[in-house]
Amino acid sequence: MPSFPDVDAMNAPLEQLQTGFEQALVIAFGPELAGTDPMLGPASNPKFGDYQSNIALVLAKQLGQPPRAIAEQIIHHLALSDICHPPVVAGPGFINLTLKASYLEEQLAVMHSDRRLGVPRAKASKRVVIDFSSPNIAKEMHVGHLRSTIIGDCLARILEFQEHDVLRLNHVGDWGTQFGMLIAYLKEAYPAALTTSNALELGDLVTLYRQAKQRFDQDEVFREASRQEVVALQAGEAITQRAWQLLCEQSRREFQRIYDLLDIKLTERGESFYNPLLPAIVSDLERLGLLVEDQGAKCVFLEGFTNREGKPQPLIIQKSDGGYNYATTDLAALRYRIQQDQADWIIYVTDAGQANHFAQVFQVARRSGWIPEDVTIAHVPFGLVLGEGGRKLKTRSGDTIRLQELLNEAIARARADLEARLQEEGREETEEFKAHVAEVVGIGAVKYADLSQNRTSNYVFSYDKMLALQGNTAPYMLYAYVRVQGISRKGQINFEKLTQNPQLSLVEEAELVLAKHLLQLSEVLEQVSTDFLPNRLCQYLFELSQKFNQFYDGCPVLTAAEPLQVSRLALCDLTARTLKLGLSLLGMQTLDRM
Ligand code: ARG
Repeated sequence: MPSFPDVDAMNAPLEQLQTGFEQALVIAFGPELAGTDPMLGPASNPKFGDYQSNIALVLAKQLGQPPRAIAEQIIHHLALSDICHPPVVAGPGFINLTLKASYLEEQLAVMHSDRRLGVPRAKASKRVVIDFSSPNIAKEMHVGHLRSTIIGDCLARILEFQEHDVLRLNHVGDWGTQFGMLIAYLKEAYPAALTTSNALELGDLVTLYRQAKQRFDQDEVFREASRQEVVALQAGEAITQRAWQLLCEQSRREFQRIYDLLDIKLTERGESFYNPLLPAIVSDLERLGLLVEDQGAKCVFLEGFTNREGKPQPLIIQKSDGGYNYATTDLAALRYRIQQDQADWIIYVTDAGQANHFAQVFQVARRSGWIPEDVTIAHVPFGLVLGEGGRKLKTRSGDTIRLQELLNEAIARARADLEARLQEEGREETEEFKAHVAEVVGIGAVKYADLSQNRTSNYVFSYDKMLALQGNTAPYMLYAYVRVQGISRKGQINFEKLTQNPQLSLVEEAELVLAKHLLQLSEVLEQVSTDFLPNRLCQYLFELSQKFNQFYDGCPVLTAAEPLQVSRLALCDLTARTLKLGLSLLGMQTLDRM
């Protein structure tokens, strides 16, 4: 890695323009307008410039003047001549702004000399707890968990890059009455699994789980035996406890293989961790007067949630048999994260189907006064992963797809694509090269296909689409990066040596377009860390690749004369570094050749 000086984070163009507008508004219309949002955004059409403000239209009523007159007064006081060409009032009163080449050149030089590519650190570093992935022990990790894992990891990476203090928690489902059932069944069907650690693959465990459930539903004697096991487990009885631990270990090993393949770091803190804290949830809610006994169960009646008869819906905190619920554990976890982990910000990444669960848990916690005002809590929901044809994702034989197999398949297909291409190009590569490229492309494709969709919508899982070389796909992005690396190889240019303040000069339209796009990186990241939509970052990188390709097709780089060559090489280098950083924030690796 080259060592770049740590420059003070530069301000994104938008931020600088904003400051200029805020000052102009005060000078033009007085201090009452201090802090007014200047309503600046990217121009709707590049024809009109780069940015546009609608503030004159917004202020018309309040100031009792026609918008165009307001706009004229604002631009009269705008001191932005270092940044943009003279602002233009258009239509009913829009203010259009076009950035100056000299400003772009200056800003790009700053970006170029910054290890962080001009992306500021968070103004105040927060303690963030992000709860994601969270599969269930003795059950298969499914595509919903895969989505949570990919999205959660991406958000964590962005927050970490902004230098928040991030705790990545894996809230695995490692507790519940199902363990009584499973242990009771294994005791008779497969006792070795309860005493040796390598007796089972997770696949078998899942099958056994299904069989156990069948027995449980049919056989009263077995049901009783299961209940006994739950009691024994809760009482910490040694044999049962050990059996439970072994089951957890076996699942954990399987999960870990997937995390390793996906390069995901997580701290496991499963539901069982919060067990000792559950009785206090009940007694504290009781003390607060929120707990109501309803048919033997202890519940909190929810505001704004009604059942079919229109009556307030209860959230069961403790069942009539004394057992606790998923929600009870989440209440305990929430309190623990605030009190012990000192979280300022708690983020839950799960499928949209759990939106009500979280809204209910948050409501009870809020009514109990457990969420301090300065703590932010967010559920980040996502849609379903569908098979081609829009139904649930299944194997050809109709079984649920195992994640390990899904990932292996993506790698295998990436490998086949690669070999076909090598043959076409008459290239020979080592086995090591092929295996590495296939893994980076295959895994990258699965992640990128997920992240490039708006997370709130369902998406169709398609190997063909995600591995296509054209379009908004991982291979396309990786290829754009490779292309820039190819330039440095071909011209024997060491990009790292270029870091000593290259002089930029933007001449062609394609250069200006690329420059403006590069400078939007921090705006985009800022946005993703606010709305948690990683597809914005994907879109940004996709457009970056396109704009880079247009630039590269239209502007000679290696054959350009000095000083243009250095300037263009710097644009190449900035593109490559931005792609690499962006992809790494999506959890993707890059390749120098592919
Ligand atoms: N284990 C749960 C599931 O598979 C997800 C847990 C999400 N996190 C939480 N704190 N509830 O659906």
